[in-house]
Amino acid sequence: MFLRSIELLRESNSEKSDAYPFSIPSIKSFRKLELRSNVTFFVGENGSGKSTLLESIAYQCGFNTAGGSRNDSYEVDSSESVLGPFIRLSWLPKITHGFFLRAETFYQFASHLDTIPDSLEYYGGRSLHKQSHGEAFLSVFKNRFGKRGIYLLDEPEAALSPARQLAFLRVIHDLSGSAQFIIATHSPILLGYPDAQILDFDSHPVKEVQYEDTIQYILTRRFLENRKRMLDEIFND
Ligand SMILES: Nc1ncnc2c1ncn2[C@@H]1O[C@H](COP(=O)(O)OP(=O)(O)OP(=O)(O)O)[C@@H](O)[C@H]1O
Ligand SMILES: [Mg+2]
Repeated sequence: MFLRSIELLRESNSEKSDAYPFSIPSIKSFRKLELRSNVTFFVGENGSGKSTLLESIAYQCGFNTAGGSRNDSYEVDSSESVLGPFIRLSWLPKITHGFFLRAETFYQFASHLDTIPDSLEYYGGRSLHKQSHGEAFLSVFKNRFGKRGIYLLDEPEAALSPARQLAFLRVIHDLSGSAQFIIATHSPILLGYPDAQILDFDSHPVKEVQYEDTIQYILTRRFLENRKRMLDEIFND
């Protein structure tokens, strides 16, 4: 592990207006999060603040908040982190290598990589645009991220079929000796990674939950086991 905790700076109290990002309950009530695993998941409803916190971590890591590493500077819209200046990261040991990846900026990222000389050798000799979304995603991981680093991923499942989500669990497993992952996700498959720390953004302040207690697990399981009954409930409500 490298990143041990994330803390909201006390000076930001004066900023705790009702304006974004302090309008978000999980951020307003945020004090400090201790990370205890190489793999941490952020879960919570749409709009609960997962991406906001993940972006602020990327900002403090010096990663491009549009999605990229220290060496990948390219412009896309809405690439700044409003919360970033208000948090402090504690490292042991400090590392600077790593990556921030948003599902929705993956295409821009791929375009950018195509402009780097020799970049193709990282990706099995094929431009990322000539691979499918999921193939491209997995090749980035397998070919480029095999070293000590911290990887911040926002909804990686958006690019991945269920089978590839399982393959991605294997990629995490293979890298987890030398890498740290913080992943915002809605995927009940990804959340099943063993011994991960799952942080629930629907609790204020954010708190750790067990896999089987996540809404993602409970709802998916109920749906698969009682599909007809759940559909009846939804349609006849
Ligand atoms: N730049 C911004 N300015 C104002 N409000 C914002 C901004 N970015 C996000 N928000 C709002 O902050 C809230 C939290 O957004 P955030 O993107 O962190 O949620 P999330 O937990 O990642 O949700 P999702 O699961 O849908 O990705 C939302 O209500 C969103 O509309
Ligand atoms: Mg989000």
